[in-house]
Amino acid sequence: MVKPSPMLMIPGPTPVPQEVLSELAYPPMGHRSGAFKDIMLAIQPKLQWLFQTQQPVFTYAASATGAMEAALVNTVNPGQTVLVLACGVFSQRWADIAKRLGIEVIEQAVEYGQPNSLSDLDAILSGPDADRIKAVCLIHNETSTGVINPVEAMARLIRQKTPDALIIIDTVTGLGAAPFDFDGWDIDVAVSGSQKGFMLPPGLAFLAVSQRAMQRHAQVANPGFYFNFTDNAKSVGQGQTPWTSATTLCRGLLKSLELMEDDGLDVLHDRHRLNRQITRAAIQAMGLSFLVTDEAAASPSVTSVLKPDGIEVADLRGILSNEFGLTIAAGQKHLKDGIFRIGHLGAIFPRDVFTAISAIEAVLHRLDYNRAPLGAGITAAQQEWTNACRVAITS
Ligand SMILES: Cc1ncc(COP(=O)(O)O)c(C=O)c1O
Repeated sequence: MVKPSPMLMIPGPTPVPQEVLSELAYPPMGHRSGAFKDIMLAIQPKLQWLFQTQQPVFTYAASATGAMEAALVNTVNPGQTVLVLACGVFSQRWADIAKRLGIEVIEQAVEYGQPNSLSDLDAILSGPDADRIKAVCLIHNETSTGVINPVEAMARLIRQKTPDALIIIDTVTGLGAAPFDFDGWDIDVAVSGSQKGFMLPPGLAFLAVSQRAMQRHAQVANPGFYFNFTDNAKSVGQGQTPWTSATTLCRGLLKSLELMEDDGLDVLHDRHRLNRQITRAAIQAMGLSFLVTDEAAASPSVTSVLKPDGIEVADLRGILSNEFGLTIAAGQKHLKDGIFRIGHLGAIFPRDVFTAISAIEAVLHRLDYNRAPLGAGITAAQQEWTNACRVAITS
């Protein structure tokens, strides 16, 4: 049976460009060969460019959760305290990992769909617990809800109120989609993963680490083995990883970083912002509602839409998959059946958003959802794109 080719509009794994796929088709290389060393040495400055740092960036053969665990096990001793700013499933994961490592957790959570609050953060950092906070763990872009946090302002506040606390940040679905400045914002540890803005398959995790974090690491009694910062810091300058590298993925990584560099950060961020605007214009015109109503907090990587009355998210996703080969995401945890999420992260272009919107609109109408006339969504998407291009051409 001939079927439409798969189209991924989830916030990771994301589509992999043909240029990167071609690299992934090469036979595996020896991880201690000179040719592979050259690849790793070429990757390092490009990763530093993406994270905006002069500090080393480690590449782990792991998913991003591995790098999250690495961040904590290497810098915080059991019994010490971290503050976790939670706003969804993935930011909450910082607390879950910390607790399993025997780290005390102070948790500051907001309702799903909201960004973390600067005034709540200020209150905690001005309160009686501030002195024992060794690290603050936060998230740049919360994928489970589609919220982007004001991390620059959060980092500034943390540094001002608790100068010695490490700032540990998940930028798994923020990096490459929205501005991120590791050195400029004085971040200590930042983690990301390959299957997101990097436009690669899953399997690599990245971790940028400050000198402050390396100093703290030196005081940690049991910093673990596989993800150990000392071993990774030693290897990274030599174009190596301490243990067997995911050589094929690293080969693809070099290509994806070259593609990103060709575009430049502004172009990458503008494209994600435009995809978000097109998506939101269409969703609104279809008479649907957003989980994230605050425009400033609306993610450039993923848009969460509240389940329309009378429609099951599973039915919508099932028909999109069967008829169009299009995968969109459901919600997570208590929002599992309450929202659907349209990913527009990585190698997603307005062309893809138009296709997804048209398909979603058609399927909703087929399911007898008729809050707006058929075509209202795609028309609004086209209008938004046209307006954005007109501004770009005339400015
Ligand atoms: C923001 C964020 N953090 C962490 C993770 C965990 O990444 P992984 O599944 O690669 O371990 C994800 C995965 O979707 C994510 O979106």
